[in-house]
Amino acid sequence: MDYQEIILDYDAGIALITLNRPKALNAVNVAMIAQLHHFFTEGYKDLKDLKGVVITGSGEKAFAAGADIKEFMNVASSAKEFLKTGHKMFNAIERFHKPVIAAINGFALGGGCELALACHMRVIADNGKLSFPEVNLGLIPGYGGTQRMSQLIGKARAMELMMTTDMLPATRTVELGICNHLMPVGEAVAKSKEIIQKIGTKAPLAIKHIISAVNACFDHNADGYEVELDAFAELMQTKDFQEGVSAFVEKRKANFTAE
Ligand code: CAA
Repeated sequence: MDYQEIILDYDAGIALITLNRPKALNAVNVAMIAQLHHFFTEGYKDLKDLKGVVITGSGEKAFAAGADIKEFMNVASSAKEFLKTGHKMFNAIERFHKPVIAAINGFALGGGCELALACHMRVIADNGKLSFPEVNLGLIPGYGGTQRMSQLIGKARAMELMMTTDMLPATRTVELGICNHLMPVGEAVAKSKEIIQKIGTKAPLAIKHIISAVNACFDHNADGYEVELDAFAELMQTKDFQEGVSAFVEKRKANFTAE
């Protein structure tokens, strides 16, 4: 697939995806959703030795200022299908087997905030700002924001945030546990890459199972304890488990092969 709305750079095992609609403050449109979905389900397979993915916005002003409001005008008659397509993409990010980190620069509003929430972690720059402005449009967050934000900050805070449309400054997003790290402007991507490089030294299959087991905690259809138990038992059958234990005993660095 030809990526127009996103830019993909690949270096040292890290895919950097830049949302690339700067004139519309990187608003998430249908084409961008299709391209992100393609990357997280197919496109990544072309990248050898992928360790993880960082998503950021082009320019310093916005990560993404929401779903594309102008496109909304035409989708009322097929609203459910429209949203379901988005949900598939957001779920593909959340369930991706490698770490995905949002490096938030400037505004992350509405669907842009929801995109950041679907990532496994968030690093925010000093100028980052999060808000759900949907009720100003007569809407609610529609790409999983009501769920993922409530999971992160609790019911009362999520209710207030979505009903008031208050803009959270970067410092507050870290205090609330939405974002993992606060960085000076221009350094959020580097910090995100540093985290992925660190994770890249660990056993890849274990990392994959951490993602699915933690996600299971928020999946009403899953028994998270069972998911954890199955994952642990499966990992004990792997070569990487043998290697990790041998390396510990032999006092050397483990050489994991994802087998
Ligand atoms: N969709 C489409 N275009 C957008 C956009 C969006 N969400 N946000 C900004 N833009 C466009 C503007 O229309 C403008 O384009 P033009 O120059 O062609 O007019 C350009 O980006 C620059 O924006 P502003 O001139 O408004 O910049 P500003 O600095 O004055 O304000 C802002 C910045 C406060 C972020 C303001 O743009 C804004 O409020 N944007 C809308 C935010 C919003 O309501 N997002 C929620 C969308 S709904 C949603 O996301 C639902 C969902 O969950 C599925």
